[in-house]
Amino acid sequence: MKRFAWLLLSLPLFASCAGKTGGDDLAALKKAGKIVLGTSADYPPYEFHRLDQGADSIVGFDIAIAKEIAGKLGVELEIKDMKFDGLLAALDSGNVDLVLAGMTPTEERRKSVDFTRVYYRADQGILLRKADLGKYANLESLKGAVIGAQKGAIQAGIAKKRIKGLEDDKAEHREVKELGKVADLVLELKNGKIEAVVVEKNVAAAYAKRNPDLAVADIGFPDEEGGSAAAVKKGRQALLAAVDAALGAVVDSGAVEGFVAEATLLAETE
Ligand code: ARG
Repeated sequence: MKRFAWLLLSLPLFASCAGKTGGDDLAALKKAGKIVLGTSADYPPYEFHRLDQGADSIVGFDIAIAKEIAGKLGVELEIKDMKFDGLLAALDSGNVDLVLAGMTPTEERRKSVDFTRVYYRADQGILLRKADLGKYANLESLKGAVIGAQKGAIQAGIAKKRIKGLEDDKAEHREVKELGKVADLVLELKNGKIEAVVVEKNVAAAYAKRNPDLAVADIGFPDEEGGSAAAVKKGRQALLAAVDAALGAVVDSGAVEGFVAEATLLAETE
C-alpha cells in the first residue's frame, strides 16, 4: 500500500523533470554560455578546414551564420566536426545543440529532428576529371559509371534515382560508392577509382578550383527541393524558436550572400 502511494506521488514529479530536460532548455544553454554546433567540414564553401598561420580552423558560410546565431543568443560557439551521417544522432544524444551542414530539410529527416527556415538554396552538381568532360556530357552517359556520393546525404539517393534510374533510392547499388567524407570521394575521383561525384554545385565548383585536374560537369542538374536549413533536436521548441528568429534576422539583413561570397573566396585561396 505504502509503496503504491509513493509511486503515485512521485509520478507527476518525474513527468515534469522529463519535460524540462527533453524540452525547453534554452535558459540552461544561455546560462552555460555556449552552443555546440555539429557540422561536417568537408563541404567548401559551406564549411571546411583552413590553415591560418599554421593553425587549423573551420570556416565557411555556415560557420559565419552559426557565429551570428550564437552572437544573437549571447553565447559562445563551439564547433564539433564529424561525419555527415553522424549529425542527426549527435543532435539526438545531446552531443551537439545545433547542426548547420548544408543540410537539406527532407521529409525523412523531419521525422527525427526539427528544422528552421531554409537559409540558402542550391542546385546539384557533378564533379568529374577534367579529361572526362566530353565523355560525360549528360546524365545518360553516367548511367553505367561508378558514381560517388556522401554517405547519409541526399546525393546518394539522387545518384540512384536520377542517374541510375532506380525506384528504390535506399538500397545499396554497386555503382554508387558511398563514403563518409567528401574529401575521400574527391581522392577516389582523382585516382580513377570512381568516375563522378554528386555534390551541391557550388561545392563541386570549390573542389574544381582547388584541383586543376577536376571540373564541374556541363550538365544541368536542378533540384527544386535543394536547400539548407539548421536543425535542432526534436522537441527543443524554445531553442528552435530562438535559432529560427536569429537566422531570420541574418537572412532578412541580406548578409548570407556576403558570407557565401567571402567563403567562396576563402575556399579558393587555400
Ligand atoms: N545537402 C545535402 C544533404 O543534406 C548534402 C549536405 C552535405 N553537407 C556536408 N557538410 N558534407 O544531404
